[in-house]
Amino acid sequence: MKSTLFASLCAAFAATVLTAAEPIKVGEVASLTGKEAAFGASSHRGTLLAIEHINAAGGVLGRPFELFTEDNQSKAGETATVARKLLSREKVVALLGEVASSRSLEMAPIAQRAKIPMISPSSTNPKVTAVGDYVFRVCFIDPFQGTVMAKFAKETLKAKRVAVLTSVSSAYSVGLAKYFKERFLADGGDIALEQKYTEGDKDFKAQLTAIRAAGVDAVFVPGYYTEAALVTRQARELGLTLPLFGGDGWEAPQLLEIGGKAMEGTYYSTHYSPEDSSPKVQSFVAAFRTRWAGETPDAMAALGYDTVLVLAGAMARAGTTEPAAVRDAIAATKGFAGVTGTTTLDADRNASKAASIITITDGKFKFVQTVAP
Ligand code: PHE
Repeated sequence: MKSTLFASLCAAFAATVLTAAEPIKVGEVASLTGKEAAFGASSHRGTLLAIEHINAAGGVLGRPFELFTEDNQSKAGETATVARKLLSREKVVALLGEVASSRSLEMAPIAQRAKIPMISPSSTNPKVTAVGDYVFRVCFIDPFQGTVMAKFAKETLKAKRVAVLTSVSSAYSVGLAKYFKERFLADGGDIALEQKYTEGDKDFKAQLTAIRAAGVDAVFVPGYYTEAALVTRQARELGLTLPLFGGDGWEAPQLLEIGGKAMEGTYYSTHYSPEDSSPKVQSFVAAFRTRWAGETPDAMAALGYDTVLVLAGAMARAGTTEPAAVRDAIAATKGFAGVTGTTTLDADRNASKAASIITITDGKFKFVQTVAP
């Protein structure tokens, strides 16, 4: 008798706890393997850390987050496939990702059609959020980043004639090159030469020989880290001593591993610096290092972390995980103080945030300056 009562009490208790704690299913698409594996690995670690922090504090609306991560292998077409799978199989109520703009552009129409909110931590091409009202990002966009680097080239590098080396197969690269050129020309600079490559190219000698002949002051390389490092190495091998500089796509430990000594004195813009002395950044850096074997978080890790907090905040304010209500609440995000600065989403679902400029000195990333929006 006693034991039956106990058993039924236990069952009732378990039932309440289980219903109350039904997880909130969130999908993440990242490049965990393949060419841009560094991006996915890093944003995934930031995302996971945020989820662990939220769950340790009791979750959102009394429910823990459950993360479903899919690897797109850095391959074109794969993001669409795995995003669909997350929606149909796991029935996720929100999508996080992608890092790279071309891949976010694959996922955005799928999220939009399904009316499931999607937040990209770090895709900076303007077209991403223009896909529809369910698509957000928590980072700045490339018209700003292009302006930052055009001003930097003019004011700090004192460059008057610049060459631009664009990856024509990357939406990010094409966009950033365009915004950089517009601003540099508007400020009276000269784009002496434009050269092209495609993702995965390994030999840049022809483009660099043309650049050498053009006699420019600096070279802007708005691409991802693998090619940026190879370009810089080959530039030095050809005797080009001028400054090379790029955007956030340069941000990965592999930039230094591939580029080695050649990277000394190059510059790029990004979303944050782990050297920032603010308590918010420093406690994030410490928590990340503890969780991930001493690794220092880069911009993607920091943005991945902030993305989850923006989503969690929106769900808490909405009082529900119902996608339409969560969409409205994300759109209303104002003054969220995160690791990567303050996020306020504008009418186009973009954030306007400061950029950090980084250089490479003595084989290490070194913070140079912050540029306000
Ligand atoms: N901004 C890049 C893109 O849109 C991705 C990126 C973000 C790369 C942050 C590095 C750091 O494709």
